[in-house]
Amino acid sequence: MKRLRSRSPARKTINQSINPFTNKQYSNKYRKLREEREKLPIFDALPQFDKMFNKNQVVILQGETGSGKTTQIPQYILEKGYAKGKLVACTQPRRVAAMSVAKRVAEEMDVELGQQVGYSIRFEECAGPNTLLKYLTDGMLLREAMTDPTLDKYGVIILDEAHERTLSTDILFGLLKEVLQKRKDLKVVVMSATLDTEKFLGYFKNAPLLTVPGRLYPVELFYTEFPEEDYLWATVRTVMQIHAFEEPGDILVFLTGEEEIESTCDSIRKEAARYKDNVGKLSVIPLYSSLPPAMQQKIFEPAPEVNSNGIPGRKCILSTNIAETSLTIDGIVFVIDSGLSKQKCYNPRMRVESLLVSPISRASAKQRAGRAGRTRPGKCYRLYTEKSYKRELVESTAPEILRSNLANVVLQLKILGIENLVDFDFIDPPSPETMMRALETLHYLRALDDEGELTEEGRLMSEFPLDPELSKLLIISPKYSCGEEMLNLVAMLTSPNPFLRPRDHEDAADKAKSKFVNKDGDHITLINAYQGFENEGRQPYWCSKNFLNPRTMRGAAEIRDQLVVKMNKLDIPIISNKHNISENIRKCIISGFFMQVVHKEKANFYMTLKEKQHVALHPSTGVMRPDWAVYHEYVLTSKKYIRIVSSINPEWLIEIAPQYFDLSHFPDTNGKKLLQEIIDGKNTQK
Ligand code: CDP
Ligand code: MG
Repeated sequence: MKRLRSRSPARKTINQSINPFTNKQYSNKYRKLREEREKLPIFDALPQFDKMFNKNQVVILQGETGSGKTTQIPQYILEKGYAKGKLVACTQPRRVAAMSVAKRVAEEMDVELGQQVGYSIRFEECAGPNTLLKYLTDGMLLREAMTDPTLDKYGVIILDEAHERTLSTDILFGLLKEVLQKRKDLKVVVMSATLDTEKFLGYFKNAPLLTVPGRLYPVELFYTEFPEEDYLWATVRTVMQIHAFEEPGDILVFLTGEEEIESTCDSIRKEAARYKDNVGKLSVIPLYSSLPPAMQQKIFEPAPEVNSNGIPGRKCILSTNIAETSLTIDGIVFVIDSGLSKQKCYNPRMRVESLLVSPISRASAKQRAGRAGRTRPGKCYRLYTEKSYKRELVESTAPEILRSNLANVVLQLKILGIENLVDFDFIDPPSPETMMRALETLHYLRALDDEGELTEEGRLMSEFPLDPELSKLLIISPKYSCGEEMLNLVAMLTSPNPFLRPRDHEDAADKAKSKFVNKDGDHITLINAYQGFENEGRQPYWCSKNFLNPRTMRGAAEIRDQLVVKMNKLDIPIISNKHNISENIRKCIISGFFMQVVHKEKANFYMTLKEKQHVALHPSTGVMRPDWAVYHEYVLTSKKYIRIVSSINPEWLIEIAPQYFDLSHFPDTNGKKLLQEIIDGKNTQK
């Protein structure tokens, strides 16, 4: 530990041949990386950073993506011993970024990942007693604050990618502002890409701003002449044109999500296969958050070598907006921007939060274009018109806190002892209506009592890294003797859709799925699929045979294992009894999801009870148009759908969630009438 307190400048440690963190000789790879690092724009700004950091408790650092903020600043602070024997934390909004950056920095420091440098993301901790620098998602740091409100084990906390303004980062801002008052030894660095830094300056008064000049080459912009009807096809066409006619340089494409990224990758590969050796080799690589780390690492591999005609190869990466600021890929010269991304939105009146494919902001469009000019002048092809860029895109996207359901956040703040939410110093305060909804939801879930105080159940809910509705299912499962089933279900609901349905194999896929389908509901279908996987010893081969995504299933198994550990720690027994299991499972689900219930008002015409939203069953559902149903997800596409649906008996609603089904607050519907009859019937029986 002593060496950490040494005040010798970083450069001095470097000239030594012994790594002070491991007491081993530096490797050759270390030296090579060291040379690369010294070329980063941030390197020259380090002395200035040093001065500011020493004079202030909070420093704001702004620099172009790729300038070296995320990889270099935490290392520098560590090497200088500025955490005074405590840990350095660096938050990331995205899991992928936390993992990949930790890996990179471990390499740069010539240490083993998980030792001095580690990471921590939901359901996965790769850090230990030797860890001095931890990259973690902002959500994980918030979780840590719940057990350690002053974050005492950290000497320096770096809030990275602050411009993203994720929900958790925003809460951390408010929290850290309070902690900084109590802990004068704590230092905070706020790091952001070149966007909207004014906001942070206004929030952390007195904090100095350091701007790292970026090295951006000019990027030539191209727009489409007319709006594109099919941006995926336009993507394929543009990639092929660049590949066939443009000079060497890699391509980065921004799309919205896993499915379209995978299918577009396929289309591009098919097209590329038709070319002969008169064009170079093309390697097509997907990048999205649910991709396993080894696959994500592929984006850093060099482009394919020259072909037999001496023409150099090219890398083409198709990414979600992960690659917009959080991951820097070197060698990109061409960017193709669909102008879209998946964004969360929340309507408190309807109580629905959904992910919607929406136009990006102009700030995002500029960031995306900037990715093309990192190493030399580049080109950006925007798959939309210049007119729509100017007139239809908003300047910047509203922060996530203004677009989210806040039930989880409010629960966390309560645990953190923040009683009066109105006084919390939000950088952008959420609307009172959204706050009210959150409190109301927690009250209905019995996480808060009538006085708004946390209940024992609320405390338990907050222990799980899940939305309170899902935690509730696990907590209440002993009552319905379906502990194993709920673990299966929650693990599956926390993972992406596991059912594969490849083009040209739809029938085989549907047949495979039918083995798991349960007519009572899609929740049980998911439970069955998971159970099958478990029964077969978690074999990837079995998954592929059954059209289940092996990666998703393995991920779900890992999540399930973690949840079991948590259940044991909290002394929640895992009880399962096959008697009446289907009914018990569905009753248990209602305990958490009574607010997500629909009634069939007319043939195939469903309506939510309180908000009177018309919805349709998603085509993927396996239930046969039940009169009443509980659903997991509300999907807004061209139509309003509910996905993952199970049939229920309306009497269960009255039995399980009387606190919610106080019908005087419900609008008139046939559903309400029927529920009233059930209540009246019960009263006369008494
Ligand atoms: O945080 P910022 O965008 O300022 O830059 P960074 O992520 O620290 O990246 C600095 C350099 O490290 C870039 O040239 C990246 O290409 C490289 N890097 C890498 O090679 N592999 C990673 N996993 C992360 C960064
Ligand atoms: Mg960064």
